Amino acid sequence: MADTQKLAERPKSDAKVYIDAAVGKDDESADGSEAKPFQSLYHALLQHLDKPAPTYLTRVAPKEGSADGPTWEEPAKTAMKKAVGRVDIYKKKQAKEQQAANKDEEERQRRVQNLEDSKKIVLTEDPSLPPAVRIKLNNKSIELGDQTKKGTRVKVYGRILNVRAQKNATFIDLKDGYGTLQCVLPAGNLTKTYDALLFAQETALVLHGEMKQVPPAQKAPDNRELHVDYYKVLGAAPSDLDAISNKVSRQSDPWNVEMLDNRHLVLRGENASAVMKLREAVELAFVDTYRDMDFHKVSPPAMVQTQVEGGSTLFKYDYYGEEAYLTQSSQLYLETVIQSLGNVYAIEKSFRAEKSLTRRHLSEFTHVEAEMDFIEFEDLLEHLEEIISRIVDRVLADPRSAEYVKLLNPGFQKPTRPFMRMKYADAIDWLNQQEPPILNEEGNPHAFGDDIAEAAERRMTDIINRPIFLTHFPVEIKAFYMKKDPNDLRVTESVDVLMPGVGEIVGGSMRMEGYEELIEAYKKNGIGHEPYYWYTDLRKFGTSPHGGYGLGLERFLAWIANRHTVREACLYPRFMGRCKP
Ligand code: 4AD
Repeated sequence: MADTQKLAERPKSDAKVYIDAAVGKDDESADGSEAKPFQSLYHALLQHLDKPAPTYLTRVAPKEGSADGPTWEEPAKTAMKKAVGRVDIYKKKQAKEQQAANKDEEERQRRVQNLEDSKKIVLTEDPSLPPAVRIKLNNKSIELGDQTKKGTRVKVYGRILNVRAQKNATFIDLKDGYGTLQCVLPAGNLTKTYDALLFAQETALVLHGEMKQVPPAQKAPDNRELHVDYYKVLGAAPSDLDAISNKVSRQSDPWNVEMLDNRHLVLRGENASAVMKLREAVELAFVDTYRDMDFHKVSPPAMVQTQVEGGSTLFKYDYYGEEAYLTQSSQLYLETVIQSLGNVYAIEKSFRAEKSLTRRHLSEFTHVEAEMDFIEFEDLLEHLEEIISRIVDRVLADPRSAEYVKLLNPGFQKPTRPFMRMKYADAIDWLNQQEPPILNEEGNPHAFGDDIAEAAERRMTDIINRPIFLTHFPVEIKAFYMKKDPNDLRVTESVDVLMPGVGEIVGGSMRMEGYEELIEAYKKNGIGHEPYYWYTDLRKFGTSPHGGYGLGLERFLAWIANRHTVREACLYPRFMGRCKP
C-alpha cells in the first residue's frame, strides 16, 4: 500500500495540531499546540505518522486592512498532498537507509562468524616436506623451481609490505630490510586462518615454501615467488583505523609534524630506509677513504668545557657542579693529536643550540672532521676536492649504494673537477652584480664584512649550480682560531664548500700558529683562556702550519640524495622544539 494512502486511511482522533508558516518552529520548541505551532505541515505529519490522524489547522492571516485576528483552517487538499508526498520521500529514504544498515550488519556478523570459524583452522607443517632453509630476502643463490623441477624449500622472516587477497590466492609482498619477495598462499586453509583474515601491512611472520620462477608474463622482484605451504604470524599489525597506512603516508612530506612524531613508523618506508642505508654507505666511504689516505680515526669527548664556534649556540649543562657544554666540534681535540698520530679524523656527534628552524640546521648532527699537519692552505683545498670526489666515486661504485642514489636522486651527477673557487670578496661583488642584486639580511646590497646569510648563499649556489669553494672570509665573521692570510690580514685562510640545493656542507681553515696571537684572539672574542690551556699549549710545544675542516654528514646526504632538509638525513632529527621520538 502506498504510504500516502496509509496516511489518509489512519483513524481520526480529536486532537488538533497547529501549523504556522510565519512564526511556527519545527525544532524542539514546537509541540503543535496553538501556542507553539509547527512551521510546516510536512513536519507536523512526521510527528504523528503511526498515530490516529489529528485535525491539522494552518494559520490564515487576516485580509489586508481587516481588523480581524488570524484564523485557523484545515489545509487545502493540494497542500496536504504536497506534504504527504514529502513524507513519502522521507519514508522511502529511511527504508533504504535501514536496508543498507541491515546489510552492513549482516556482513559484519558474517565476518565475525568467519573470524570465529577461522580460529578453528590450525596450520601444521607437513613433516614429509624437505626441511626449509632459512634465507634473507637478498639471497639470490636459491634454486628456483618450475614445471619440471622442484625449487629449494626455504624459510623467510619478514613483514608484510602489501597484501592482496584474490579468489585463487592471497599475495603477500614480504620485506625484511634486505629485499622483497612475493609470497603466494593458495586459496584454502592457508588463506582462511584467523591470522590470514587479519593480515595487515607490517604484520611480522615466518613463511615456509618452495621458491619458484614467476610464471611468464607476470612480474615480481627478482622474477621469483615463494609458494607457501606453511606460515606463522609472529607479530600482527593493526588492520583497522590504527593501520600504519592511516598513520603515515607516502604523500606526506617527511618533515611535517605528524610524520616527525611518527618517525619510527616513517622509517619503515622505502625512501626513509634508503636514506639511512645510503647514510651508512657514505659514512663507511669516509672511513675507507681516510684509511686509504693514511688518516687515523680518533674519538674525542662530547662533554667539554670549551667552545669552538661561538657561545650563542652552546648547549650548557651542569657537570658535577661545574659548567660544561655538549661539544660544537671535535676540532680542538683533533688538533691535539696530529703531533703523535699524524693526520687524524673523527666522525662524532656535534651539538648546536641553533635557535632557528631552517632546512639545514640541526641541534645534533654528525660531524666528519679531519685535521692535517704540516700543510699549506692550498693543500687543504686540494684535499677537500679530492676527498669529496673520492666519496662520491666510492658511493657510486658500490652497486647497492648507487641504487639508493638512483632511487632518491635519479638526476645526480658527479661534480666535475676542478671545483670552482671564489674568494669571499669576489662573492660579495658577484651578489651585488646580479640582476636584481641579491641583498643582505637587512635588505641592502652586500658589503665587505657582511655574513653571507643562508638565503643569499643558497641563491648563489643554485644559480652557479656546481660546487663552490668560497675562501678568505674576513677575520671578524670567522672563529677565533683561524689563521690570517699573510697576504691580506683582513681575511682568514678559510673555506666553506657550497653545494647546489643545500649550500654550505663544509667549513674549514688553517689554524693560528702563534702563542701570543692566539691569546690575543681569545681576548678579542671575549673568551677566557684558562679552560683552553691544553689547546694553547699546542702553540708552545712545537707549533706547526696545520688545518682541517668539518663536514656535516646530514648536509652531504641532503645534497647527494636530494633531500629537502637535513631532517630527512638522520634517524631521529633533533632541532629546536623537537627531542622525540
Ligand atoms: O662551519 P662549522 O661550524 O665548522 C666547525 O665546526 C669547525 N670547527 C670544523 C672543523 O674545522 N673541524 O661546521 C662545519 C660543518 C658545516 O659546514 C655544516 O656542514 C655542519 O658542520 N654543521 C651543521 N649541520 C647541521 N646542523 C647544524 N646546526 C650545523 N652546524 C654546522
